[in-house]
Amino acid sequence: MKIAITNIKQLVQADQQQSRIKAAGNQMAEVPVINDAYVLIEDGIITDLGKMADNPAIDHKSVVEIDASGRFVFPSFCDSHTHLVFPKTREIEYVDKIKGLSYEEIAKRGGGILNSAQSIREISENQLFEDSMKRADEIMELGTGAVEIKSGYGLDTEQELKILRVAKRLKEETPLTIKSTFLGAHAIPTKYKKDQSKYVDIVINEMLPAVAKENLADFVDVFCDKGFFNIESTDRILEAAAKYGLVPKIHANELDYSGGIQTGIKHNALSVDHLEYTGDEEIEALKSSETMPTVLPGAAFFLNLPYAPARKMIDAGLPVAMASDFNPGSSPSGNMQLILSMASILFKLTPREAINATTLNSAYAMDVSQNLGSISKGKTANLFITREMPGMEFMPYYYGSNKVDKTILNGELK
Ligand code: NIG
Ligand code: FE
Repeated sequence: MKIAITNIKQLVQADQQQSRIKAAGNQMAEVPVINDAYVLIEDGIITDLGKMADNPAIDHKSVVEIDASGRFVFPSFCDSHTHLVFPKTREIEYVDKIKGLSYEEIAKRGGGILNSAQSIREISENQLFEDSMKRADEIMELGTGAVEIKSGYGLDTEQELKILRVAKRLKEETPLTIKSTFLGAHAIPTKYKKDQSKYVDIVINEMLPAVAKENLADFVDVFCDKGFFNIESTDRILEAAAKYGLVPKIHANELDYSGGIQTGIKHNALSVDHLEYTGDEEIEALKSSETMPTVLPGAAFFLNLPYAPARKMIDAGLPVAMASDFNPGSSPSGNMQLILSMASILFKLTPREAINATTLNSAYAMDVSQNLGSISKGKTANLFITREMPGMEFMPYYYGSNKVDKTILNGELK
């Protein structure tokens, strides 16, 4: 299928050179744009882009033309951190939270992740797929084109495999680009509470080989934090996963200065995520690494956590990615438009910095930025056309409503 999008008011993140795979420090303020632009798409790939004045050659017999007058075209969001395949929502805990219980207190009472680990046993793989498919459809409507999905609500081999198989089916049956992450070390099941090393043995000796055998994961994750997995356990899991070629993306420093960031860097993690407790030492360590610091505004907002110092990281020259953390406990929304707004309002990123955080840098954080995250010749045609808007800044500014009008994924109109 050939598509020409013409008369675009502004083409956003139009990367002529295609050389950027991430943006750090001052570069985060740079979002290349073309006013009064066109984009040509053929067989799923962006084949040309430029100014309307340069008269793009459109053969109307074979090309579907979409007139985007008054509208903007953005690259689809890349959501590099989600738990989208989950069994049930947990609104009871939401009420507990409003009444004053903390995330850790809820977890200690057997709520939180352990609660989901119970309900995953009560849902069939098919039903889990159907429910997850609805969420996948919802995020596509909201402009997401690529998503990372973690396991971590199974906490035993059978259930972890079930989640990852559902993620694999979503990969096959939706136009989303999906990367999967094995997160067997998401919480310590109650019977191993006193000796997490016994549970870690199971993660390493049973779960990892089974996941690798079915080739179900691209990455490995550990919730390395106070009250969850310690550094020793994290080291053990990441070393074992490396033997299967699984690159780490880890949950770090959400609840304390846990050493999770440094542990991730030591293992060449693709990203370290959450980062509410990030000080000068952690920022220094990140500066000498290729690891993408990833902030999850939805979780900090929903749990009333201190905000990760994203502004400080960028001012120190670091890149920052932002993702939704879509999950039933700490961030029950996969709406990346909302993340864009939170990036600006709560984390003080300019709209342009926020766009880089949710497109190019989040693409890097899930290892797809060679192909996605910007609108460049040769990249996969994952983009959306907005409704009529006065300016690019309207996108984060006019929060709470869907500004995406049409979505194109892999060169096909959704
Ligand atoms: O990223 N922090 C750990 N894990 C998830 C929460 C999962 C849940 O509560 O269900 C997170 O916030
Ligand atoms: Fe998470």
